[in-house]
Amino acid sequence: MRTYTRSSFFDYLKLFKSQFKFSRYHANTAFYRYKNIKKKIFEEFKFDLTDKKILDIGCGQRYQYTYLFSKNNNVVGIDLDVILVKHDVRTCISIISKNGINRFLKTLFRALFLDRTYYKELERVAKTKKPREIKVFQMNAEEIKFHDNTFDFVLSILSFEHFKNVDKCVAEIKRVLKKGGKFYISIDLFSKMRGGHEINPSRPWNHLLDKNFKSDVFLNKLRLDDYKKIFLSHFQNVKFICSENPIARQLLTTEIKQELSDYTEMELVMNPLIVIGEK
Ligand SMILES: C[S@@+](CC[C@H](N)C(=O)[O-])C[C@H]1O[C@@H](n2cnc3c(N)ncnc32)[C@H](O)[C@@H]1O
Repeated sequence: MRTYTRSSFFDYLKLFKSQFKFSRYHANTAFYRYKNIKKKIFEEFKFDLTDKKILDIGCGQRYQYTYLFSKNNNVVGIDLDVILVKHDVRTCISIISKNGINRFLKTLFRALFLDRTYYKELERVAKTKKPREIKVFQMNAEEIKFHDNTFDFVLSILSFEHFKNVDKCVAEIKRVLKKGGKFYISIDLFSKMRGGHEINPSRPWNHLLDKNFKSDVFLNKLRLDDYKKIFLSHFQNVKFICSENPIARQLLTTEIKQELSDYTEMELVMNPLIVIGEK
């Protein structure tokens, strides 16, 4: 059996090839998620995400949710990385110095070869042009530089697993939310089948089975109950939504279950954990 080594150049090449092939699919998935977030928040709180002040935490290099919510709202995205919003020399230099040369090359490659198809498809499905001005700031989720009671809604998609101090981030979300403000957070738990963020895993749950596993990116490894405790210590009205990934369920053999018996079955076969709530 292959022992894990950090992702190679060829793993990245494979990733880009698949991203190229699936650019349209990824854009559609983002739009589907965006619609689902709006639907869920409306069903749960009768809260319409229109004309609201919104914060997108960990918006990412594609800032797709910042873009999509901007259609009908005033949205700000923040990310620990410098985001390539403006394609100018100054932004590139700032990305190299803050994010490092490897991440810069990844971002540049994606911007040059993948983003055109991706955004074109996003514009098509969302029936809205990519805004000329997108408000994205380089900022740590643990120290959000906005005043108390600023936002009606905070969202964070697949970023929490990368935060070092989740308790601090949740406290910050509570601080910047207005009274009655809502939040929607989705988290890829480390225990999930692909929770190691490995580009090309040699087997399902390789990151848990391989004792020498090292991730390319920081992952906090918090468990389901850790997240529950943290959110419940800050918010009274909070709901945790866990659903099963049928593919993971199929691949979870008796041997793997035995080897990973520290984890509950749900932790192993989960889709991203969804946490929604209000201040
Ligand atoms: C997997 S990406 C998700 C991006 C986007 N939300 C999406 O769904 O495509 C995670 C993002 O979280 C950001 N991030 C990690 N730690 C952070 C922190 N402490 N504060 C803000 N952003 C952070 C990373 O830079 C990265 O862009």
